Amino acid sequence: TCSWSKGKYTLHKYQGFWSHRKLLEVAIPAQQSFKARPGDVFLCSYPKSGTTWLKALVYAIITRGKFDKSPLLTTLPHNCLPFLEKELEQIVANQKNSCFAHVATHLPYHSLPESILASNCKMVYIYRNVKDVIVSYYHFSREIAKLTMEDAPFEEAFNEFYQGISLYGPYWDHILGYWRASLERPDIILFLKYEDMKKDPTIHLKRLAEFIGYPFTIEEEKAGVIQSIINLCSFENLSNLEVNKSGCSNGFFGIENRLYFRKAKEGDWKNYFTDEG
Ligand code: A3P
Repeated sequence: TCSWSKGKYTLHKYQGFWSHRKLLEVAIPAQQSFKARPGDVFLCSYPKSGTTWLKALVYAIITRGKFDKSPLLTTLPHNCLPFLEKELEQIVANQKNSCFAHVATHLPYHSLPESILASNCKMVYIYRNVKDVIVSYYHFSREIAKLTMEDAPFEEAFNEFYQGISLYGPYWDHILGYWRASLERPDIILFLKYEDMKKDPTIHLKRLAEFIGYPFTIEEEKAGVIQSIINLCSFENLSNLEVNKSGCSNGFFGIENRLYFRKAKEGDWKNYFTDEG
């Protein structure tokens, strides 16, 4: 492996992508030991592409009608539907397989546990305008590394990203890995675009629910269930909940909840890119 460091932040390259040491320590041994079960669904994404939103939507779809008050009102979406990386950590520690049927992951396609690649499990890949991903990633990584805008100018971050140096990067390899796989197996990989979902959430929510095996009935549609899930999972709602403004996720890196909710605007990149860029 080769390494790259900036301040206290060090990434290591393994299997063609950049990663943290902590992640590699669990991802590598668990590539063999994780056992995907028929019916498991994996939500895959490059960081900052709408993972939190997708998790909330899927969780709301699969638990609809089960609670008087959705757990999403009091629990960070990442704590409702875990990351595979976190589950792998448990597997490595306890030798016990994950009990969740719906998990998310940022791992590149070719680095997924072998049992997932060999399975017919469905995957949903969310992607977003790469320029907005860069801006979002810039703010997120700067906050985590506790650097100011002056310590870490956007231009520098852009150049690093462009060279492929970012957590789970290179970005294009990530999206292309899943895209190529989806050409071979279109029945098991659904691509969703963040901007399309914002524009027409109803159509995409219906597609998503159907794809993961939880289609809405006509009665549910008439009763406004789709709209209520859209409202529940909207940025406006989630970002204003007390739980999402404070505390830390129990995920792999224990990240502050508030960092998952910034602006959620399409085209924020225009405030950062120059004409040249
Ligand atoms: P911005 O930094 O542009 O605001 P991820 O969940 O993959 O880490 O992506 C985070 C991005 O999704 C952030 O983008 C965040 O604000 C946005 N986001 C979070 N919750 C959202 C929601 N419910 N709906 C739409 N976008 C959301």
